[in-house]
Amino acid sequence: MEPLAAFRALGTEEGRQDPYPLYEAIRAHGDLVPVKPGTFVAVGYRECARILRDPRLQVQDGTAFDRIYPDWRAHSSVRAFTDSMLYSNPPVHGRQRGTVNTEFTPQQVARLRPVIVETVAGLLDRVDDLGAGGSAVDLMDEFATRLPIAVVSAMLGFDEDRVTWFRDLATAIAVATDGFGDADALATADAAMDELAEHFEGLIARKRGCPAGDIVSSLVGLHDADSARLSHQELIGNMMLLLTAGFETTAFLTGDGALMAIANPGYAARLRTDDAFTERYVEEVLRVEPPVHVTSRWATEDLVMFGTRIPAGARVVVVLAAGNRDPRRYPDPGRFDPSRVRSQPLSFGGGIHFCLGAALARLEARIALPMLFRRFPGIALAGTATYRDRWVIRGLRTLPVTTGAE
Ligand code: HEM
Repeated sequence: MEPLAAFRALGTEEGRQDPYPLYEAIRAHGDLVPVKPGTFVAVGYRECARILRDPRLQVQDGTAFDRIYPDWRAHSSVRAFTDSMLYSNPPVHGRQRGTVNTEFTPQQVARLRPVIVETVAGLLDRVDDLGAGGSAVDLMDEFATRLPIAVVSAMLGFDEDRVTWFRDLATAIAVATDGFGDADALATADAAMDELAEHFEGLIARKRGCPAGDIVSSLVGLHDADSARLSHQELIGNMMLLLTAGFETTAFLTGDGALMAIANPGYAARLRTDDAFTERYVEEVLRVEPPVHVTSRWATEDLVMFGTRIPAGARVVVVLAAGNRDPRRYPDPGRFDPSRVRSQPLSFGGGIHFCLGAALARLEARIALPMLFRRFPGIALAGTATYRDRWVIRGLRTLPVTTGAE
């Protein structure tokens, strides 16, 4: 298959169902492949890693959007992303990320263990009730999607009994990161962003009057002390980013991790008792089924990488999920093998935009999976698990199970 045909097919229904053969079709032409004028696709591990670390390749920020999608300002969801660190380049990026970096270090995140354990236990109680008498429970709806929102709400100082409300808004907003292809989805994302922004304005006012020890209180304090460090729009944009970036992604990690161990009871048995196994297991789920399949960078100047000439303005599509299955890096790459050591998948990206929440996501999965299988040793699939029909952020839509509890 020609690289352009494979690349285009990634956007089709068939590609969304199973993109992996299409990555291999592209890889057959190289590890960094020109697919059409101005568009290159990286599928090699080394190539993806290097591109993410090269300062000559940057994310699309507001200035770039002006050239490509002149009407982007009409969309509040896209505006909010461009106000956040994810869609910012140096020096704006470093300034914004510096306002929250220390809250997400592995040491700081480790202190959240009791909150995560308590949240998981509460959600499993509910799953237990719902599954009584052998009723089927959707683990995505009742467990995997609720956990990250509850944890990030506790960190940020959000209202914790609005978990499902935040979840539904975050789901709608996340489609804005898929680009401008679907006008209806974008309109839904904008409406959700407007609702969320209104809620955030109220929250900011409350925190200003009565600061608590949470991230939003400290960001409001920072903004009030010096708005050049964090503008009001950047405050809202990054609150939205922190809510959405860690939500579907962590839910998909937990969901895929649960599905693989339900299908392989030997893994479930080890997850119950073996912490070292659990760490490697979570890394292997991240490698084989990464929640973020792809990101992009744009060349700020003419450059040559791995012998390929990339002109200024070109887009380089970085397929993290393909890099994670590069046979030069991982023997038998399609095989799920939790005994791999120092796997270091590309799933959290790399370079200055390396996922801020990586330690948090790992900790949530390392706590949630063992607790799930300890609580429900007889858990079993109760139907077919289905995947979401999106490419960029990919994971389970439903995971119906019976808990095996009386
Ligand atoms: C950035 C993946 C969980 C917050 C990223 C990027 C990836 C990623 C690939 C880089 C995107 C790029 O370079 O274009 C994931 C995965 C997660 C996860 C797979 C779960 C398994 C979280 C959590 C949070 C979070 C729990 C926070 C609560 C962020 C933020 C950024 C980011 C703020 C932007 C960082 C920057 O631009 O400097 N994530 N993420 N993520 N992630 Fe995560």
